[in-house]
Amino acid sequence: MIGWLAIAGLGPGDDRLVTPEVSAALAEATDVVGYIPYVARVAPRPGLTLHPSDNRVELDRARNALEMAAAGRRVVVVSSGDPGVFAMASAVFEALEGRPDWQALDIRVLPGITAMLAAAAAAGAPLGHDFCCINLSDNLKPWAVIETRLRHAARADFAMAFYNPRSASRPEGFVKALATLREECGPDRLVTFARAVSTPDQRIETVTLAEATPEMADMRTVVILGNSATRRVGRFVYSPRSVR
Ligand SMILES: C[S@@+](CC[C@H](N)C(=O)[O-])C[C@H]1O[C@@H](n2cnc3c(N)ncnc32)[C@H](O)[C@@H]1O
Repeated sequence: MIGWLAIAGLGPGDDRLVTPEVSAALAEATDVVGYIPYVARVAPRPGLTLHPSDNRVELDRARNALEMAAAGRRVVVVSSGDPGVFAMASAVFEALEGRPDWQALDIRVLPGITAMLAAAAAAGAPLGHDFCCINLSDNLKPWAVIETRLRHAARADFAMAFYNPRSASRPEGFVKALATLREECGPDRLVTFARAVSTPDQRIETVTLAEATPEMADMRTVVILGNSATRRVGRFVYSPRSVR
């Protein structure tokens, strides 16, 4: 058996948002590797072994997947959304460093619909002009880096999408992020809280920065801050195509 490794994005939650390319890879796979809730989204079937693991073992998980592919298995590493956005693709490439044997394997990255794009579509078009996206978790970088990026992006008038905004173990970060953004953007800037997008629990709420509270975000939320021109039209929020 000739092994391969696909690093696949399952999209934000709704099965209809899984790409046909990812579905085809899952149909051919012998093994699926990933964080417990993402592996749970893959239907079991004969001939398929599921390997769910904890969130904090990304590099071990990547090495395990590469070892199986090198042994001839057809392995899919799953992430939610897109695998290249704060997810497993980088961990797999990190595991390839110094391993020419693994670098020679058949490895493909299969894109998925990332949370901010599904959220933006549900809200209207808040990312319709220039934007950036920032992971607000300080697990993998110091808070000072996050704060510098927030201030520079705000001064450049980017719309911004925030992943991992607030967790039980990091309740203070988002409080600080909101304070920084109010300081830089003023109280009237629109901010959209998009929770559990494309699932039955979906909730989309757009408020001003003055009205935003930390409790409006959790780990199932992606937060989209508008630029200075972002506005409401009816029940939608959008950023105009042009800036004067
Ligand atoms: C570790 S990141 C993974 C991102 C994923 N690779 C992607 O492209 O969407 C997890 C964060 O993505 C965001 N997220 C993922 N799925 C979401 C959804 N269905 N609705 C809202 N936010 C979501 C949340 O901010 C969550 O804390």
